[in-house]
Amino acid sequence: MKLIFEKSVSGRTGYSLPDLDVPQKPLSEMIPKGLIRKEEPNLPEVYEAEVVRHYTNLSRLNHSVDVGFYPLGSCTMKYNPKINERISKFDGFMYIHPYQNEKTVQGALELMYNLQNLLCEITGMDHMTLQPSAGAHGEFTGMSIIKKYHEDRGEYERRKVLIPDSAHGTNPASASMCGFEVVEIKSTKEGLVDLEELKKNLDEKTAAIMLTNPNTLGLYEREIEKIAKMAHDSGALLYYDGANLNAILGKIRPGDMGFDVVHLNLHKTFSTPHGMGGPGSGPVGVKSFLKDYLPIPVVEQDQNGLYYFNYDLPKTIGRVRSFYGNFGVLIKAYAYILFIGKEGLKEVAELAVLNANYLRKKMSRFLKIASDLVCMHEFVVDGSELKKYGVKTLDVAKRLLDYGFHPPTIYFPLIVSEAMMIEPTETETKETLDKFAETVEKILEEAREDPEILKNAPYTTYVKRLNEVLAVKQPILRWQKGENVKYTDL
Ligand SMILES: Cc1ncc(COP(=O)(O)O)c(C=O)c1O
Repeated sequence: MKLIFEKSVSGRTGYSLPDLDVPQKPLSEMIPKGLIRKEEPNLPEVYEAEVVRHYTNLSRLNHSVDVGFYPLGSCTMKYNPKINERISKFDGFMYIHPYQNEKTVQGALELMYNLQNLLCEITGMDHMTLQPSAGAHGEFTGMSIIKKYHEDRGEYERRKVLIPDSAHGTNPASASMCGFEVVEIKSTKEGLVDLEELKKNLDEKTAAIMLTNPNTLGLYEREIEKIAKMAHDSGALLYYDGANLNAILGKIRPGDMGFDVVHLNLHKTFSTPHGMGGPGSGPVGVKSFLKDYLPIPVVEQDQNGLYYFNYDLPKTIGRVRSFYGNFGVLIKAYAYILFIGKEGLKEVAELAVLNANYLRKKMSRFLKIASDLVCMHEFVVDGSELKKYGVKTLDVAKRLLDYGFHPPTIYFPLIVSEAMMIEPTETETKETLDKFAETVEKILEEAREDPEILKNAPYTTYVKRLNEVLAVKQPILRWQKGENVKYTDL
């Protein structure tokens, strides 16, 4: 495919402007001297049609959930209703400004207030901030609240945070960014938190246990109430990474399991696509004893029914971002929750779990599954047996691209060898799941017959097999004149 710069022909234009009907002044009279360009900008000279084709073709180079199945474990790449995108672009939302007087943006404040309350109800928490912009940002906010809480009680020695070895990498990263020391807790053979290990490490120096439930192996921590009691008996708090909430929506609430602080990934569970660095939202919910530590401002309602930003939280950790969060994402979450309602939320969880178990069972006929337990919304394949065909999980993942599937998450969680983490989500049909399973089986047959096919895959994508290390270390993010480096040269 030729890039737009390579199609450029001197003198071609993609616009036509009417003749100038005012006297033309010299540039030097209109623009300060220092700001006038000395060289022509390097812009492609092309027709409008070529521009349209360029962007349309670019959009087709990426896999997306609008194109096909995207079982990227831990990322909940579900289909998000397009109507919510439209709602978030209503004029009344689009054209307001964060500096506007509160009285003139009552609708927006009401939406935020109601969303705070709905998320509290869904999670079983008492108060919620909508400020954080991502899951990791929510973790940082939640852990900062926990830190301030302990310090406020004079318990400065509580510096340890216990995190299972199956946890998402952002958990230890966020805890250490808050100045905590991270202690890794081994999982049992089944893939659950090892209570003996936990007991050994839990003491008066522990600030918190950070967990996600279901965990990143897609397994429900059955002993969660026991874990909560152990944490609280030792004076530590329990933090919930709610990135996996899709699996338990409307069924069970982290607040009822004993968690004190919760973050959510609205850009997974509540109708905003996850990934690609787009705007996200990681609201944080707390139990009432932590309310005063929340970031300011929170949205509240006065006796006259007016909504306002409350900056008066005596022990607040301060602001965690500019203004009030990614408002567009909040609108989509609100519209989604209202639209599908209580029963709909339950159905999301039921179908997500059903789909994952259906696919798990189907794939267990030809691949080893990391745990024998019934899974929640996702499951992990142990790909170590692929070695007998001379291939790796990476090769299977690359070959899936040739068949039009986005590969699952690979090599995570770290505790499973050659891991392949599959999250089908609730928005896929049985036919899609069947086709995916059949395709993986077919790829294994290819591996048996001719492993080279897999090792050189993908063949059908614009960018072929990359040197992944170089691609990360020296990313080529834009076209540069005179440089003919191709991704495939890497
Ligand atoms: C279990 C878990 N926790 C935390 C995160 C971090 O969320 P974010 O990518 O929004 O920072 C993710 C991301 O996918 C996740 O899967």
